[in-house]
Amino acid sequence: MAAADPVLPLARYYLPVYRPRELVLERGQGARLWDSEGREYVDFAAGIAVCGLGHNDPDLHAALVEQAGKLWHTSNIFYSEPPLRLAEELVTASRFAERVFLCNSGTEANEAAIKLVRKWATAQGRPPQQRVIVTFRGSFHGRTLAAVTATAQPKYQEGYEPLPGGFRYVDFNDLTQLETAMAAGDVAAVMVEPVQGEGGVMPAASGFLRRVRELCDHHGALLVLDEIQAGMGRTGTLFAHWQDEVVPDIVTLAKALGGGFPIGAMLAGPKVAQAMQFGAHGTTFGGNPLAAAVARVALRKLASPQVAANVSRQSHALREGLLAIGAEFDLFEQVRGRGLMLGAVLKPAFAGRAGEILDHAAAQGLLLLQAGPDVLRLVPALNIGDADVAEGLQRLRAAVAAFAGR
Ligand SMILES: Cc1ncc(COP(=O)(O)O)c(C=O)c1O
Repeated sequence: MAAADPVLPLARYYLPVYRPRELVLERGQGARLWDSEGREYVDFAAGIAVCGLGHNDPDLHAALVEQAGKLWHTSNIFYSEPPLRLAEELVTASRFAERVFLCNSGTEANEAAIKLVRKWATAQGRPPQQRVIVTFRGSFHGRTLAAVTATAQPKYQEGYEPLPGGFRYVDFNDLTQLETAMAAGDVAAVMVEPVQGEGGVMPAASGFLRRVRELCDHHGALLVLDEIQAGMGRTGTLFAHWQDEVVPDIVTLAKALGGGFPIGAMLAGPKVAQAMQFGAHGTTFGGNPLAAAVARVALRKLASPQVAANVSRQSHALREGLLAIGAEFDLFEQVRGRGLMLGAVLKPAFAGRAGEILDHAAAQGLLLLQAGPDVLRLVPALNIGDADVAEGLQRLRAAVAAFAGR
């Protein structure tokens, strides 16, 4: 094996909150990446579901370069054209929103959503104890203090107490628990991912979100959908909740919206579009012209029928491939997810060993993700081609064979 890249020791200057693989990525094209030693990888990770159009998409590149030659930043005390146009395009594409708040990341979009819920509830005359937000066990909503409190997983919260109050947790897909949690009439919002990502690639059960919507309407609560990972075409429709046939009050986006350039957005429907007024919230960088120029192109391309058709085609191919590998090595209990957000759940005999398989995959030239210790997560570019899917599956098979000692 070649000597490790000389820049790797510099990682000691990072706050040690990550444990990246010992490789330095240098260049990407479509669904392939190359490291600093020239090794090539098939990319089923896409920067954690961010690079929806793959790496170095020519249209995103052109939009970035064009905008870079004009204007980089204005702050929100002046207007510029790209974020104005992006806001209109997001409102139109969403089919429900009236207004948009642009920010820089997923957690910031969720922070804005949480604050919007609270402002709305305040305007309704509800006292603080009646502004509860219900979220679901296994969820992931980000790492700022309110978003991590919404994230109903103790491992992300431990050591950060005291956490902000006013959150209540119930099991995902459990309507009985949700009904009980809302019975006291103190719930201002239910916040939910249409497909839980970090929590194990777990889709909302058929009809679940429709019933959540009904319960919200019955109890005067808002429905907040976190589509940061599942949105922007990943599940086969531009917005994941279109498949659940619900109309939300708030939707949060980030990840693929910028195709790799950091951006987040909170979309507000008619009930809440006026709840935050001048001075109620803000950000220096949100709606940055560079980010917005790229996101406009990403949104247009991700909304195309060609992308939707490819998601469906490659989802089928990946599922088939995963099922075949699972059967050959008696490895997977289940392959689940929607579109190109897929999870292969390890059988109990292999519980906790997803990380090992990822190591073998990287050694075989395949970048994969896990969603917890027991689930392999595949979130490739939505325009990935047949050859890359086939090659990635072949490398996954080789990785699993090495893992299984065959
Ligand atoms: C569903 C969901 N919400 C929120 C976030 C947080 O986004 P960010 O890491 O951009 O803050 C993530 C990130 O993985 C996510 O998957």
